[in-house]
Amino acid sequence: MKKEQRKITIAIDGFSSSGKSTMAKHLAKTIGYAYIDTGAMYRAVTLYALDHDMIHGDNVNVEALTAALDDIVITFGVDDDGTSFTCLNGRNVESDIRSMRVSDKVSLVAAIAPVRRAMVRQQQAMGRDKGIVMDGRDIGTVVFPDAEMKVFVNASAETRARRRFDELRAKGDTTTTYEQVLANVVERDRIDSTRDESPLRRAHDAVDLDNSSMTIDEQNRWMLDLFKQRAASCEL
Ligand code: DC
Repeated sequence: MKKEQRKITIAIDGFSSSGKSTMAKHLAKTIGYAYIDTGAMYRAVTLYALDHDMIHGDNVNVEALTAALDDIVITFGVDDDGTSFTCLNGRNVESDIRSMRVSDKVSLVAAIAPVRRAMVRQQQAMGRDKGIVMDGRDIGTVVFPDAEMKVFVNASAETRARRRFDELRAKGDTTTTYEQVLANVVERDRIDSTRDESPLRRAHDAVDLDNSSMTIDEQNRWMLDLFKQRAASCEL
C-alpha cells in the first residue's frame, strides 16, 4: 500500500537576487504547495512608507511606520496564467515593488524590529498548515526553525547583479546601469547581514546551494530531488 505523504514546510533563504524566488516558485507549482515571497512583503511595506512620505534619504520615520502597521494589509493573488502577484491594501503592486525606488530603501525598512515582528507573525500564520514554500532571509532561522527542508542559496554578487539587471531591462527599465545594480546588491548584502534584528544567516541545518554556474533547469531538478528525499523521510 502506498504510504500517505505528509505535507512539509520548505524554507529557502539566501542573498538578494540569488534566484531563490524563481526556484521556490517553480518547486511550489510542481508539488502543489503554496508559495510565499517574504521579500515582496518587506518591499510592499517599503512602498507604503515611501508613498506616505515616511522615508527621507536614509531616515525612516519608524514611529509613524510602526503606528501604520495595522493599516498595511499584504496579500498574494494569482493571474489567469498562474503567475503570482503581491497586493498592498487590495492594489496589485507587483511592478512597483520591484522598482529601484523600492530596492534602494527596502533594507532600511526590513531592519526595523516592529516591521519584522509584524511580518514574521503573518508569515507564521500563512504556514500554519504546512504545505508551503517560503523564501526570504530568516525563514529557516526565525520564521520556521523546525522546517523539514531548509536551503541556503548563494551566488557571486556579480552573477546576482547581472540577473537583476537583465530582469529590469526585460521590464522596460532602460536607465538603471549594471554598476548601479551591483552597488545596490552589495549594499543590501551588507545591511542584511549586519543588522541587529534577524540578520541574514545560514541555519545550521540548511543545505547549501551555490547556483552561480547552474541553469534554471538544473536548479529546479536539484530542489525537486531534495524535496523528494525530505518528503520520503517524513512519510507516515
Ligand atoms: O528577496 P528580496 O530582494 O526581494 O528582499 C527584499 C529585502 O527584504 C532585502 O533587503 C532583504 C529583506 N528581507 C528580509 O529582511 N527578510 C526576509 N524574510 C525577506 C527579505
